[in-house]
This record gives sequence, structure tokens and C-alpha cells, in this order.
Amino acid sequence: MSGPPPAGPLLCIETSCDDTSAAIVQGRDVLSSIVSSQNELHAQFGGVVPEVASRRHTELANEVIAEAMSSAAVGWDDLAAVATTQGPGLIGALLVGLAAAKAIAYRRRLPLIPVNHIQGHIAANYALGVEAPFVCLVASGGHTLLAVVEEGVAYRVAARTMDDAAGEAFDKGARLLGLGYPGGKELDLLAAGGDARFVRFPRAVPHGRDFSFSGLKTALLYDLLGRDEAQVEGQRADIAASYQAAIVSQLVEKTVACAAGEGLRRVAIAGGVAANSGLRRALTERCDAEGLQLSLPPLSLCTDNAGMIGLAAGFLPALPWPTYLDLDAFASDSQARAARPAKRRPRAARPADPS
Ligand code: KG4
Ligand code: ZN
Repeated sequence: MSGPPPAGPLLCIETSCDDTSAAIVQGRDVLSSIVSSQNELHAQFGGVVPEVASRRHTELANEVIAEAMSSAAVGWDDLAAVATTQGPGLIGALLVGLAAAKAIAYRRRLPLIPVNHIQGHIAANYALGVEAPFVCLVASGGHTLLAVVEEGVAYRVAARTMDDAAGEAFDKGARLLGLGYPGGKELDLLAAGGDARFVRFPRAVPHGRDFSFSGLKTALLYDLLGRDEAQVEGQRADIAASYQAAIVSQLVEKTVACAAGEGLRRVAIAGGVAANSGLRRALTERCDAEGLQLSLPPLSLCTDNAGMIGLAAGFLPALPWPTYLDLDAFASDSQARAARPAKRRPRAARPADPS
């Protein structure tokens, strides 16, 4: 049994990867959103260490939740429900947020709204007043797909990456260029001062619907291997700009083609890569030229945050107190499907026993 989302402020929690975040959201208003990034903690390992992330979430969660509530001037008695990311993501990290959400909701006798992380990213666009249907490019560190959003946060996947996610391409490229982790933002900043025509990197699978970035990463590796150190040093910004342009051109072309193929005039973007200045500029120019309406969420709602989880929660069913206590997190969407109880089939009538 589940009900419509309750009116009133929602306490929202997001801990699917390496950002500990809490927010207060009411309808389409994000009243507060606090993000405590663990980037520095994981940078020494060159990537997110799941166990380290989970432990850090447990240390930060209470403080981040308290700050979200105080900066929205919302008290425990004001809350209408608790929303939290259920998956996909790192399972240990997700479980920390889910456990915190259950504990608060149970103690306050509130409903709980489990939210899919991808639907959260898409819902960031609702802060700007976009209306479905629209095509949404979801590009983050773990996912790259084109979602045809039919209503609320219900969507159909029109295309996806065949290998790396776009954020992964940025991070791997940044590493090859000697930038920090995660390198997307640093690569973006470096590229801003470079000439994107310096190297012509391949625009992978130009005719397919799906994305591919792994060949591009290899092309960058070989380009760098072909240069001496001084050349790389002198041309780093130009190489970064060229590499970014190749990722961006693929994202823009496939998004616009998808909108045309679906007959939709509204386009949106979501996920950490949606913060990329080159992508925002190129997509704006392309959508203007094509007469498409574009929704660009503020940067704070692109990278992982609990505000987007609250915006999605407004479209999702709330589980009444205390039915959610045995709710589990899921690492991938396919695991979520597998965890759902199978629908009971009516039993076929048994033939009469001949004996
Ligand atoms: O959505 P997100 O915060 O977490 C996931 O769900 O994965 O996305 C993180 C990804 C990282 O790969 C990061 O490098 C990338 O988004 N990113 C960027 C920028 N800001 C974050 N990539 C390119 N340009 C940026 N400005
Ligand atoms: Zn994300």
C-alpha cells in the first residue's frame, strides 16, 4: 500500500556515491540543500573507495541533515515525509542514507518515499518549471543515457552508452592530462583557455543512437604518447579543449537527433556532466538554431544533491508508516527489478488424478 506524496516539507537524503547530502524540499521549491563532498578523501586513491565512502557518510549524515533543516528553518514537527535515494549506486553508501531515513521516519511516524537516483537527476529540471514530455540527456559519472520523460519522472530509455559514461570519459581524460580526481570540472576549466581545433579527436558512432566514449579515451592516450613532455605541457589546454569538444559534440548531436526522432520540442540535461560549460554552451546554441526549448538546471542541481531527490519524490508514491522498515537498497536498476516480488500467476487447473 502506498499513497500520494504528502503536502508539506520533505526531508531528503542522498548518499548514493561520495557526496553526503540532505535537503528540505516543498513541492518544486528547494528550501535548502547541503552537500558535503568527499572528493578530497578519495582523491588520494584516484577514485571512490566504496567502504571509505560508506564510513564517511555515517560520520557526516547527522550533521548534514541538521544543517539542511536549520538553514530552511524547518523543525522535526514540520516534516511531512522523508525521501531518500534507494538506488542505483554504491550499496554500502546507499544503505547509510536509507537507514538514516528509516530511523527518522519511523521515530516521527512519517511516510517514507524511496527515490531512484536517475529519476532524481531528471527531476532537477522541475525546479525550473519544465513540463513533460521532454527528452533528457542524463550524463554523470556512472550513467549516460537519453530519457524520454513521458510524465513526472516516468521515462523510457531511448539511447545509452555502450561502454564508458560521459563523466568517466572526462575523469579518465583528466587523469591522462595530469589533473586531479574527479577531473571533469578541472578539465572544463582548463579547456576554457584552449583551442578546440588543435586535435581532431574521433566523434564515435556518429550514426547510431547509442553513445560510445572508450575509443576517444584511447585516442587521447595515443595522442599524448606521440608528444614529448614539453609539447604536452605547452599544449595541455588545447588538447583538453579538443577532447572536451569531442565528448560534447557527441552528446549534443545525439540529444538533438533524439528530440527530432521522438517529435519532441523540449530538451533538458541532468547529471554531473550537465555542469560542463562547453556542453551548456554548445547545446544552447544548437537548441536555439533548431527552435528547441532547453532546460539547463543550476550547477548545484546537476552534480549529486538531495534537492533533486526531493523534486522527484513529489511524483512518487509514499510508503506509509511503518511499512518501509524492511525496504532494501539496490546497486543497479536490474537488481531493483530482480528484487521485486514476482507477480503471482493463476494456477493451472490440475488434471484429475487417474488413480
Ligand atoms: O552526477 P554526479 O555528481 O555523480 C554521479 O551520479 O556519477 O556526476 C559526477 C561526474 C564526474 O564524472 C565529474 O567529473 C563530472 O560529473 N563533472 C563534470 C563537471 N562537473 C562534474 N564533467 C565535466 N564538466 C564539469 N564541469
Ligand atoms: Zn548522480
